[in-house]
Amino acid sequence: MRRLRTQVVIVGAGPSGLLLSHLLSLRGVDSIVVERRSREYVEQRVRAGLLEQGTVDLLRQAGLADRLDREGLVHEGFELRFDGSQHRLPFAELTGWTTCMYGQQEVVKDLIKARAAAGGQLYFGIEDVAPLDVETDAPRVRCTVQGEPMEIIGDFVAGCDGFHGVCRHSVPTGALTTYEHAYPFAWLGILASAAPSTEELIYAVHEGGFALHSMRSPTISRLYLQVGPAEPLADWPDDRIWAELRTRFALHGQEVLNEGPILSRSVTAMRSFVVEPMQYRRLFLAGDAAHIVPPSAAKGLNLAVADVRHLAAAFTAWYADGSRELLDGYSRACLAAVWQGQEFSAFMTSLLHRFPAEDDYAVKLRQARLRDLVTSRAAATAFAEHYVGLARARLAGAIGERQSSPRTRAGTAGGSTHQA
Ligand code: FAD
Ligand code: DHB
Repeated sequence: MRRLRTQVVIVGAGPSGLLLSHLLSLRGVDSIVVERRSREYVEQRVRAGLLEQGTVDLLRQAGLADRLDREGLVHEGFELRFDGSQHRLPFAELTGWTTCMYGQQEVVKDLIKARAAAGGQLYFGIEDVAPLDVETDAPRVRCTVQGEPMEIIGDFVAGCDGFHGVCRHSVPTGALTTYEHAYPFAWLGILASAAPSTEELIYAVHEGGFALHSMRSPTISRLYLQVGPAEPLADWPDDRIWAELRTRFALHGQEVLNEGPILSRSVTAMRSFVVEPMQYRRLFLAGDAAHIVPPSAAKGLNLAVADVRHLAAAFTAWYADGSRELLDGYSRACLAAVWQGQEFSAFMTSLLHRFPAEDDYAVKLRQARLRDLVTSRAAATAFAEHYVGLARARLAGAIGERQSSPRTRAGTAGGSTHQA
């Protein structure tokens, strides 16, 4: 059996695990990352695309934003369509904060490149990771690397292995409490080789179901359709997808939507899940391993980054002077933000989607809520503060001078000018 020793064993090379490894290395803490999938697979996996300004700031401070600053699309508002009419929600004007469209797989590529350049130890394609002894001072991960059994011993194990990972399940029954909710619909997402039809995102509420128009670059569109909860992809040939998108985005019967070859497609269940606490002895859970949200409000990746920020600071403090305070407070610090994200994601999900069993009364209530959002500046501002991540930053008491000098709309152009 081959034995390796490190300080933090990280399970999972998604955004959480890779970012944690990178932040720790910047602070002189050693880690080893083990990932079930191949490097090619994790670099191509199409998922999130909306980065909050706080997430961009963190990536920039960590030296990870060269390409993001060149290629990311900075947004200052989005369009809301309902009842055949269009409305703009100018979130940058309302909050001083912008968002940035940049594919999650691009963040993952940038992180892997940075780890590789720094000589980081990343093991891909490891299918049998087993966390052991997490209740002791010498937790380990056992696995097989190229046919050879291997044990990685650390001071801590970081479970960054997503919702379907193994780490959460290595905790004894009864030590964690789970909270969950499943929605009676899913999202069919496509990536298309087509110039985005508009500059800003479009959230479209339609009697046939919700649709979202997003983008990844000036030549790639990302589109989502609300579909049934267990819809087989085979039921959605290209023509049906485009026809449904045209219908749901139509304004006064006009059908304006750029179309092109579909590069990838997938169906995502809409589910909420939280585990408490996010720690068991020497095992710390971060990102989707500890909590997931329905994608409506684009919070998953941003919450994962917020966890990792706390966890990296906590490990660093422990190694710097043996201080346990941040480690002990990790779960509590994250969960306040996690539940805020859960609440906003649930709110946005119910605001935008058609529920299968709902009656006309529920439909009318939703329309009233939507009208409120586009006619009341107070309602729009409260919504925008959550959407851009300002509400979470305020919760963390970490907004500093940004709160006292919000940027004007004119001053928000160009993500790279933003100060951390
Ligand atoms: P993951 O990305 O799931 O990474 C976990 C890693 O662990 C994976 O690489 C996995 O292969 C690996 N792993 C799993 N099991 C094991 C094992 N046994 N051993 C070793 N490795 C293992 N969020 C946003 O903020 N903005 C958005 O716009 C947004 N849009 C989304 C759209 C869709 C369609 C979906 C599905 C999600 C979206 N999200 C969005 C959510 C976001 O993608 C996730 O929250 C994010 O991927 C969480 O990162 P993570 O690293 O915690 O987990
Ligand atoms: C994207 C996903 C979302 O859930 C959202 O609200 C905005 C954008 C995206 O993948 O681009």
